[in-house]
Amino acid sequence: MGKKLKYWVFCSTVLGGGIKVSVCFLGNILMTKLNSIGLNTKKCDQLSDKLNELLANYSLFYQNVRGYHWNIKGEKFFELHVKFEELYNDLFLKIDEVAERIRTLGNSPKHNYSHYTKISEISESKDVSDGVKAVKDILGSFQIIISLQREILELSEEAKDEGTNTLMSDYIRAQEKLVWMYSAFLNK
Ligand SMILES: [Fe+2]
Repeated sequence: MGKKLKYWVFCSTVLGGGIKVSVCFLGNILMTKLNSIGLNTKKCDQLSDKLNELLANYSLFYQNVRGYHWNIKGEKFFELHVKFEELYNDLFLKIDEVAERIRTLGNSPKHNYSHYTKISEISESKDVSDGVKAVKDILGSFQIIISLQREILELSEEAKDEGTNTLMSDYIRAQEKLVWMYSAFLNK
């Protein structure tokens, strides 16, 4: 309990009655800690944990797509090789944006793959050379990423964090379109 709060609790005990309402109100204000961008610190910590989970998933996704780009074989090679490069470049940018958003919220982005592999729902892929298998894996990864971003969106709305909100909405809208395109490639 902070010094100011202790003082007001003491005053309420001495003066009694009606002042307790204002003490309670003031107590709530004093206990709601705001960070440097004016958001509730506790809510930003929860949000950052979830963003770190997203960062881990993006990092695994990124490295998997690099693997698809390098190892792909078959008649669709030229088409998919280029598409996968486009995708991993986009994921690379998002990794940086998510990490820097965590920093902006006042927390530390995790940066070790040993940590990422422990908390990521997307798992490492290995030596995928079949284009259809790679696209199916990409669609599975997008499903995980988009669902996680929707969870983050709920938290950022609750925290009144417009910055994270916009970031997540932009990602979701663009990725839903990509899911349609990759699904169309599979004739789905
Ligand atoms: Fe390349």
